[in-house]
Amino acid sequence: MNVIDYLRQHIRTVPDWPSPGVQFRDITPLLQNPRVFRVLIDQFVHRYMAPDLRPDVVAGIDARGFILGAVIAYELNIGFVPIRKKGKLPFATVSEEYELEYGSATVEIHTDAVGPGDTVLLIDDLIATGGTMMAGKRLLEKLGASVVEGAAIVDLPELGGSQMLRESGLPLFTLVDFA
Ligand code: PRP
Ligand code: HPA
Repeated sequence: MNVIDYLRQHIRTVPDWPSPGVQFRDITPLLQNPRVFRVLIDQFVHRYMAPDLRPDVVAGIDARGFILGAVIAYELNIGFVPIRKKGKLPFATVSEEYELEYGSATVEIHTDAVGPGDTVLLIDDLIATGGTMMAGKRLLEKLGASVVEGAAIVDLPELGGSQMLRESGLPLFTLVDFA
């Protein structure tokens, strides 16, 4: 079996969660099994060890992006910075608002998390509408950094997020698609 199918087999689909009609792609089984977790993390580490893609820092998106991003940063021997939901970061922040299906949300980053010229790997677990990752990219760019690539385990291409992000000029790397 190839690596992508092996990973796909360890993503659980939970019907009608958090609301009726939603097929929730749950990544917790990937993390729970140490062999699978290592295979997963190695996909990212090997890619971003390459000199042309190696970033200065990894930025992970609240909350599931923290789990992946911190481990990848540790393995690459570079720093990790969190992009958090509004009101969680204690020091000076910049903010970006983005649209949800109903209403809006805001993400924040510390003003000293990255600086001009820094190259950043932006990581989350999943891309749906792409709004969260787009807001993360805008935050990093506000601080003068540039995003080398956005990365996630899962893409839901039918929601149009990955296409929107690529059209906005953000290179993307995702492992498993669910139609
Ligand atoms: C989920 C997921 C991504 C985002 C993707 O996070 O982990 O961050 O939604 O959706 P989008 O592409 O439509 O923006 P959620 O807001 O549920 O937060 P959590 O990680 O704290 O559960
Ligand atoms: N799984 C996890 N997070 C999500 C999903 C999903 O299917 N859709 C939007 N965010």
